Amino acid sequence: MSHVDYQKGANMRHLLNSKLKKEEIENILNLAENLPEKKLSGKILATLFYEPSTRTRLSFESAMIRLGGNVISVENGKDSSSDKKGESLKDTLLTVSQYADVIAIRHSNSLQDISCPIPIINAGDGSGEHPTQALLDLYTIKQYKGTLENLTIMISGDLLYSRTVHSLLGFLKNYNVKILLDEPETLPLPEEYYNENTERINNRNAYLKDVDILYVTRPQKERWGVNNKWLHERDVKDLYIDKKCLELLNPNAGIMHPLPRTDELPEFVDKDPRCLIWKQVKNGVLIRMAVLLKSLEIAP
Ligand code: NCD
Repeated sequence: MSHVDYQKGANMRHLLNSKLKKEEIENILNLAENLPEKKLSGKILATLFYEPSTRTRLSFESAMIRLGGNVISVENGKDSSSDKKGESLKDTLLTVSQYADVIAIRHSNSLQDISCPIPIINAGDGSGEHPTQALLDLYTIKQYKGTLENLTIMISGDLLYSRTVHSLLGFLKNYNVKILLDEPETLPLPEEYYNENTERINNRNAYLKDVDILYVTRPQKERWGVNNKWLHERDVKDLYIDKKCLELLNPNAGIMHPLPRTDELPEFVDKDPRCLIWKQVKNGVLIRMAVLLKSLEIAP
């Protein structure tokens, strides 16, 4: 089964990637702005996490509880679920589907061809996609700039392995935006994510004054492997945000990061009024409330 089979018309049941229609994206963003109260009482969300998480899992759980629903959770699937005993993911999903109404899952393998009898939401699959993070990023951009059209967005960091960037680019294909890729030579965006909106740059400073959003992402060191580690280390360091960068950046720009951050976004950036990272965290709950309502077809 392909990912397309999971999308039921304009009603989203499964959310596995960023291949949504513009109308579906707008629908989720609007719903997040006008959320109903306690619509999911009696419903159960299962969060199955096979990779580390703080924000994504807890914001999914908070979203479900805020909507009046309940949560069951596997938070360290690799060690604490039957995965450890060799159970296939398919069998695990068939099992969990008898206990819950909707699943949010994070896994190190691709989830794009997964099959599941109840709605399933991709909460990050390896270095593939992370659609709910990208939706909350879109929501934050729209909240700050008032629109998603005619913007210049610079994306900086490890673009090869950053799943949040892959999904963000997928959704942004629906909008008239210019995307400047400030990527390390050894960690470039995979070809499949390039499109007519994207442009590689190699002199960030020359572009910063025209940027509406500066989106920074973490070196995904856990995915690098040992061979090219030192090259990657060297390359990502060149892209770290520093005081000079903040000086050159457009005064009306927003600075974003999906978090967790490491050295690429120093804490002094938090004092800058353009810093949106804590707004992103807050918006994560709103967007996941909207996505849960859509997945369960509670919302139109
Ligand atoms: C991201 C992820 O897990 O992909 N974190 C998140 O969900 N907010 C980004 C990252 O780990 O760098």
